[in-house]
Formats: sequence, structure tokens, C-alpha cells
Amino acid sequence: MSQDSGVCGAGPGPAHLLGMDVLQVCVIVLSLWTIPVNCQKESLDSSLEIYKKLFETKRKDQMHALKNMIELNDINQQYKIIDIMLKGLFKVLEDSRSVLTAGDIQPNGPFPRDEKLKDAYSHIVENTAFFGDVTLRFPKIVHHYFDHNSNWNSLIRWGISFCNQTGVFDLGPHTQLLSLMAQELGISEKSADYKNPFKDEKEFIHSTDVFQKALKDEEKRRKKEDKRKELRKGPRITKTRNEL
Ligand SMILES: *[C@@H]1O[C@H](CO)[C@@H](O)[C@H](O)[C@H]1NC(C)=O
Repeated sequence: MSQDSGVCGAGPGPAHLLGMDVLQVCVIVLSLWTIPVNCQKESLDSSLEIYKKLFETKRKDQMHALKNMIELNDINQQYKIIDIMLKGLFKVLEDSRSVLTAGDIQPNGPFPRDEKLKDAYSHIVENTAFFGDVTLRFPKIVHHYFDHNSNWNSLIRWGISFCNQTGVFDLGPHTQLLSLMAQELGISEKSADYKNPFKDEKEFIHSTDVFQKALKDEEKRRKKEDKRKELRKGPRITKTRNEL
């Protein structure tokens, strides 16, 4: 678990742990409400619904991390960070795939209840989604590292296929993500009207006052949060920063 703490920037550190706590609490609450006969299936589906909400929260963190990466405005830094990030991310995907395969977890089956399986499940879903964002925002950099790595290719094929069957991406703002990333990565054939939706967005973002303000607010919030984390965790975060 700790190894992916640095992967997604705003990623699965304390926020992730907090998320799992909330999920646990909700599952407990649900099982109190559920009449124990015949309701197993219903309660498991509810777990998926709860997870979808957590996923949305998680996605917001990931978007912030992504914006910070874009705002670096330094291509060398971006290459460096993405290199480090991808190594961690694919390691997490690999480990999580092993766990899910060993546990015989089907993406369209009931949501897992075991903590370890739940973690693996959410790692696959969240890291695949985040890799999709990074791919669409930084296609050149991602191709540079991804295109010659057949292990990563097979992992992400598996990840996309798994995610596609979970239903987590079926509604809401991520319906296109899997298909777009698959096309960008050359995993599925590019349709005639394929266009990376973020290709021109960078300039657009920079010219928007609203975005600048949001970014400043977010930076303030993150600084506060970092200070709190540093107090709790000591030198770890500082070290990561310096390494980058
Ligand atoms: C997801 O699954 C559907 C139905 O099987 C398929 O048509 C679609 O191509 C898949 N999408 C991706 C990105 O693999």
C-alpha cells in the first residue's frame, strides 16, 4: 500500500485511507439496515454504489494533481515526474492484478468485501483512470515511456478491460475516458473522428481568470494540507519533494 503513496500526487495517501474507512463504516451501517435474508446481493451492489461515490472524490484529487503537473510548465520536470509516476503506477497495477486474479475477482461480479481485494480493486480502477488522464494530457511524454514497454501494454489492456466491466465508468464524467485512452495508446483502433479532447485546452486554461483563481485557492489549500501532513509524518513528504 505505502508504495503508491507517491504515485498520484494528491493520491492514495491519507485521503485514500480515509476513503476506505468511510467505505467500511458505510458497509457496516448498511449491514445493520439490511434484513439478513435474501439481501446479500443487494448489499453487495450497494457497496459498488458507495465505491462509485468514493471514486468521484478520488477523481477530484487526481484532477488537482494533474493541474499541478500541467502548471509546472517545464517539460523536463514533467518528463521526470511522469517517469517516476508511471513506474510506481504500473507496479501498483501489476501487484493489484495479481491480488485480484488470485482472489478470482470478476469485474462484473459482486463488489469484493475483503479489505485486501477491495484495495486491489480500487487501485486498478483509480490508477487506470489516472493513467488515462496523464495519457490524454501528456500524450508525447507517455508515448515516450509507454510505447516500448510490452509489460505496461499488457497491464493497461487488462486494466482497461477490467474497468470497462465494473460499471464504474458507465455514467458520469468518465464515460469516454477508457475509450479515449485506448485509442490514444493504440490499444484500440482510432476511430475516424478521434480527437484528444485536451489537445488545445492548455492555452485555454491559461487565459482563464477563473481557473487561475481556482488554482491559487487549491495551492493554498494544498500548502495547508502539506503542513498538516508534515507535522504528522515527519520527513517523508519533504524527501519526495526534493527527489522530484
Ligand atoms: C467496453 O465494452 C464494450 C462492450 O463489450 C465494448 O463495446 C467497448 O469497446 C469496450 N470499451 C473499451 C475501451 O474497451
